[in-house]
Parts: sequence; C-alpha cells; structure tokens
Amino acid sequence: MSNNRTTPIKILAVCGTRPDTVKMAPVVLELKKHPQEAELVLAVTGQHREMLEQVLHAFKLQPDFDLNIMSARQTLAQISTRALEGLDRVIDEVKPDLVLAQGDTSTTFIASLAAFYHKVPFGHVEAGLRTDNKYNPFPEEMNRRLTGVIADLHFAPTEQSRMNLLKEGVRDDVVFVTGNTVIDALLSIAAGDYHFDDERVRAAAESGKMILLTAHRRENWGDPMRDICTAVKRILARNPDFTVVFPVHKNPIVRDVVFPELQAEQRVILIEPPEYVPFVHMIKSAYIVLTDSGGVQEEAPSLGKPVLVLRTTTERPEGVDAGSAKLVGTDVNTIVTEAQKLLTDSAAYSAMAEAKNPYGDGHAAERIWEIIRSRYLA
Ligand code: UD1
Ligand code: UDP
Repeated sequence: MSNNRTTPIKILAVCGTRPDTVKMAPVVLELKKHPQEAELVLAVTGQHREMLEQVLHAFKLQPDFDLNIMSARQTLAQISTRALEGLDRVIDEVKPDLVLAQGDTSTTFIASLAAFYHKVPFGHVEAGLRTDNKYNPFPEEMNRRLTGVIADLHFAPTEQSRMNLLKEGVRDDVVFVTGNTVIDALLSIAAGDYHFDDERVRAAAESGKMILLTAHRRENWGDPMRDICTAVKRILARNPDFTVVFPVHKNPIVRDVVFPELQAEQRVILIEPPEYVPFVHMIKSAYIVLTDSGGVQEEAPSLGKPVLVLRTTTERPEGVDAGSAKLVGTDVNTIVTEAQKLLTDSAAYSAMAEAKNPYGDGHAAERIWEIIRSRYLA
C-alpha cells in the first residue's frame, strides 16, 4: 500500500449474490461520493442472476463488469472456477490498488483469491464472523475464514467479530470495528410506509398477524426444509388468525420442497423474492420472523421484530445475546413451541420485541471509506 499519493485510489468492489450486494451497496455508494480520491470500479460475478438484478436496481448500481456466471443448479466448483477466471481477467484489465468484497459467499472468497494471485491488497467487509464449525454453515464458514487469511484490511462489524480475528492471530492494527453495512442499507430505506402491490400481502401486513418466513441454507435442503414446512402448517392450525408470507428463494432445490409442501395451504402466501425495499417493509409489518438467513437475522432485531433462527449455529450471536433472536433449529416441535410462545405470551413477545440493534449505527460505509482513505491518501 502506498501512502501520500496524489492520484485517486482505484478500488475494485466485487459482489455477486443478493446478500453481498445489499451489504456492499452502501460501500459502493459511499466511495462514489469521493471521485477525487477514489475511483470505483464495480464488478459483479452474477453468481445470482435475478436476485442480483433486484439489488442492483434497488440501489441504482450499474456494474462496470458483469461475469454472468450463474447456471441452474450450479455447483460450488462451477461458481468458483468461473468467478476466478472472470475476476482474473477483470483485475488484469483494471489494475486496482485495492479489491473489496463482503461476507462469506463463494464470490467473496474467490474475489480475495483473485486479488491475491495479482498481489493486490484485499479488504474484507463483514470480517470475523465465525461459528467455528467447518461445515456449518457450509460453505460459508470456510469462505469467510479463507477470505480472512488473505485479507489485508478487516472491517469487522462488531467487537465480537474483531475478537474472533485477534484470537486467530490477525494483527490488531489491520482490524477495524465499523458496524455492519447492512444497517446502513436498512436505515436508508426503512423509514416511511410502503404500499404492497400484492393484495394478499397487504391484507396480511395490515392484519398485524403476519409471520414472515425465509429459508434457503444448504444445511436446510431436503428434510429440514420439509420439517420447516410441517412446522408452518402446525403453527397455522393452532393460530387461525395468522398468515405466513414466504418469499421463496430462487434456488430450485428449495422450490422442489417448498411448493409441493405449502402451495395448497390457505394461509401461506408463497411469493417470488421481493426486491429489497418491499422486503424490508415486510419485516417491518411482520409480527415475528422465522428465517435461516444471515442478513435477515440482523435486520429483524434492528426493526424490533423477534426472530426465530431456523439453524443450529449462528455466527451472529449478538442478536441472541441481546435477546431479540433465538436459535431454534429445524425440529418441528421446537419451532412450533417457540413460535406459539411468541404468538400467545405477550410478556415473552415484548421481551424479544424491544428494538435492539447490536450491529451498527448506519455509518459503517463511511468508516470503511475513512479507514481506506487514511491508509492510502493521508
Ligand atoms: C448463495 C450463497 C449463500 C447465501 C445465498 C443467499 C454461496 C456458496 N452461497 O447460496 O452463502 O446465503 O446465496 O441467497 O456463495 N438461482 C436463480 N436465480 C437467482 C439466484 C439463484 O435461479 O437469482 C438458482 C440457480 O439455479 C442457482 C441456484 O439458485 O444455481 C443456487 O445459487 P447459489 O448462489 O449457488 O447458491 P445459494 O443457495 O443461492
Ligand atoms: N432479502 C430480499 N428479498 C427477499 C429475501 C431477502 O431483499 O425476498 C434481503 C434481506 O433483507 C437481506 C438479504 O436479502 O438483506 C439476505 O439475503 P439472503 O437471505 O438470501 O442471504 P444470507 O444473508 O442468508 O446470506
């Protein structure tokens, strides 16, 4: 890294899926505010296609490079090899001073690897999250660990994630607690009301008795996903005034289970994944949230919504510690019992529903830029 430079620092931001693009968007938008100091190039792998387009559209981002790598039912090796070859060419052409990527997707890890092969410094946004279980979440735990080994700058969202990195021997002077950029993204659009186009969703939202559900993790493919669907049916049978809204992930492996299990259910509204703005307003309108998503696990507590996490591990213990998230796994009885408690016991509900936000103040992207600026330009 060079100090005291007079030319703008050339930064290649890489993303490719729905979650890493949501969380990179605030960073990209912040960098764009400083054209004299930062020359931003945005490359997307296209690991996701429609769900990536949705996020680019929501944040009005236009990629300079689109590798368009997605294929139906792609394997991890296919994502990795296609992204690596594509990013290799992009880095060759752009010759960035710094590559940035976010989180734990395969796009993220491969971006760090491609940067390493070109001896270009790499900055990891949302660094230091850990479950300490190599196969859970799979492959995300290893994606973020491997990315962390390569990274030169680690933007940790919380003190706990900073400590995880220090425990692994990462030098203190390259780890920065910035808050999570998801809060920047969330706060930029959560204010105000939203009119849902889908009448069924609107009615569910207005009833105040809407349960929002998302599920897509590899650990939950197959039987666990079926168990989640069974739990949903039981929850609804016990609570005739509640409706479940379930935006179904585009992955056909998820759809193969969810549609046959739930499409005939009267009070289950299966919808295509909404764009980020309507989705955030669905969280705001929900009574409770059931999810195996990383990002939703951070957003729901920040909007004061109790969240039951359909996983056995979490790399986001802050929400659990704050009392607004609970790990319930995918056992049918456990999901039903925990949901029932929230739907019927107002004290249990209130204890979880206090708006708590352990993930940041909405200024993470500004901090990330300031750290980069001070290292390259100060
Ligand atoms: C990926 C990430 C995961 C993240 C999730 C968020 C990896 C290995 N996994 O998992 O960490 O939590 O995104 O959603 O990086 N598909 C479409 N259209 C889309 C998106 C996906 O059709 O817009 C289908 C395709 O058939 C694709 C499949 O979904 O092959 C799986 O996509 P992939 O990125 O491999 O895995 P995800 O489960 O989405
Ligand atoms: N999200 C969205 N539409 C949806 C579901 C999720 O915009 O239908 C957003 C959500 O608000 C969060 C991100 O996508 O910011 C999370 O993505 P996902 O659950 O796919 O991935 P994960 O966070 O588990 O890696």
